Amino acid sequence: MDTWDRKNILVKKKIIVTGGAGYIGSHTVVELIAAGFTPIIIDNLCNTSVKNIKGVEKITGEEIKWYNRDCTNTEEINKIFSEEKIEGVIHFAAYKSVEESVQNPQKYYDNNIGSLEVILESMRENNVKNIIFSSSCTVYGSPDILPVTENSPFKKAESPYGETKQICEGMLKVDSCNSVSLRYFNPIGSHSSALIGDCSSDKANNLIPIITEVAIGKRKKITVFGDDYNTPDGTCIRDYIHVVDLAKSHVLAMNLLINKEGKHDFNIGTGIGVSVIDAIKAFEKTNNLSINYSIGPRRRGDIEQIYANGNLVKEKLGWEAKETLYQAMKSAWEWEKNK
Ligand code: NAD
Ligand code: WQD
Repeated sequence: MDTWDRKNILVKKKIIVTGGAGYIGSHTVVELIAAGFTPIIIDNLCNTSVKNIKGVEKITGEEIKWYNRDCTNTEEINKIFSEEKIEGVIHFAAYKSVEESVQNPQKYYDNNIGSLEVILESMRENNVKNIIFSSSCTVYGSPDILPVTENSPFKKAESPYGETKQICEGMLKVDSCNSVSLRYFNPIGSHSSALIGDCSSDKANNLIPIITEVAIGKRKKITVFGDDYNTPDGTCIRDYIHVVDLAKSHVLAMNLLINKEGKHDFNIGTGIGVSVIDAIKAFEKTNNLSINYSIGPRRRGDIEQIYANGNLVKEKLGWEAKETLYQAMKSAWEWEKNK
């Protein structure tokens, strides 16, 4: 992977990481540095804090180059691409609140689809070939067969947010780029240092951040959305993937594209289905805490169960989840206490 210049000085490959100051982006920047790449962040901080960049610098001991720019701004993004000689792009920048996307779909189409359009155009203009795209298991909608494979059909998206991911994957298929769409299942946890994490300005509406908010006393209790599903304990089942494992998959995907042209889609999950009650119990046991919860009605749009078949990504990228649910729950709690 290393390249040496004429004076035999190691030239590290530069990768643009849009949304690199965000939750998954910051963890990926750490892993890119560990693998010998030079990440360059583009992030307008619309849903994160500069604290994550400082955290990455502390963890890695490296100064991070970053641009505070909007990825939907063609001129500015093109300028960065023309000035930096880069090997590829990892495109995280997007809005991610399912609930907000239902209230304001246009905001989601504009930013999520608009930013990919600009990135692809800048790549073509500057002869950059490789892109990794942050997709989501939400592209499968409510699946008929479990676990879902990469060939499972895209069913009707449950939200405008989900539609943007389906559309973006389609855009990558017809573009001349080499691409990997990584379909994340439910990312959780944080780096073991607790120096980087989810700094979203949105109010928490994902399961694990809500559990940690109950644990720290920001909320009185968590409501479990339904216990009458057709699952062993009646609560919904998801595939919770540690964010550090997830971050590592991006490095392997970038190496795949650098070494070989093509278009690929991979599921990034553990393959293990965990119910809402299982998740609460795992958090309680790991952190020796008790979580106040009650059973409430179902949440509209919730899928009963979804978890990944990880055979393809194991075969093609040599990637599989290594961290346990307990490590994820421990780090999620450390982040809540530290943030
Ligand atoms: P995040 O909000 O923490 O990170 C996204 C980053 O992009 C933020 O730092 C934000 O400031 C930045 N950003 C957004 N729009 C921008 C723009 N136009 N220009 C520049 N910067 C912009 O979210 P995350 O959880 O790290 O998610 C990263 C990606 O992964 C997103 O594309 C998201 O849809 C996808 N994803 C997330 C999850 C999840 O549960 N966290 C699951 C599946 C897929
Ligand atoms: C997990 C489980 C809830 C909160 C969303 C997006 C998806 C992806 C990941 C980006 C569900 C239950 C939750 C609560 C509960 N993101 N729950 N009480 O819905 O699987 O997926 O985030 O791509 O696209 O839709 O994640 O964390 O919201 O919920 O009982 O207060 O926890 O019903 O079963 P979800 P989640």
